[in-house]
Amino acid sequence: MKPFHIATHLFLLATLAACGDSGAPNGKADTAQAESPAQAANNPADILAALPPEDQPYGLDVYSAKCVQCHGALGQGVDNAPALTGLTRSAMQQKMLAYRAGQTLGPQTAVMAEAVAGLSDAEIAAVSIYAGE
Ligand code: HEC
Repeated sequence: MKPFHIATHLFLLATLAACGDSGAPNGKADTAQAESPAQAANNPADILAALPPEDQPYGLDVYSAKCVQCHGALGQGVDNAPALTGLTRSAMQQKMLAYRAGQTLGPQTAVMAEAVAGLSDAEIAAVSIYAGE
């Protein structure tokens, strides 16, 4: 079945990315998240696949409306906002869900909490697929 293959593929990608990311400054936390079982159950592709096609948000739309002003068109970061590199799609989704749930991640958590406050689970999944690696 197609969703299963996509999920398997993403899982392999996530595993590879997690291995390749171990030298990054913040790679440790990302790697730990990539290995948690909760994350496998929260694959962004699965969340979108559960919706009818017309209800699936398009990641680029979400990114252009809500993220580009701080993270840049290439995810390179602008001013104080960090570059969005080295995060798997699932890791990015988990971070966004954590920000939305009010958890403190970095020193500028409040900025991101506000940025994701109005986003649905499906919008977070879509933008994670667009902006994650
Ligand atoms: C107003 C500016 C702003 C907007 C808008 C914004 N961000 Fe951020 N983002 C930040 C800042 C600042 C941080 C660092 C937060 C911290 O200290 O935890 C951050 C952190 C992140 C992180 C964690 C990066 C890491 O390596 O841990 C991700 C992922 C992220 N943003 C994705 C997004 C996405 C996707 C959107 C659009 C839905 C978005 N951001 C909108 C400013 C912004």
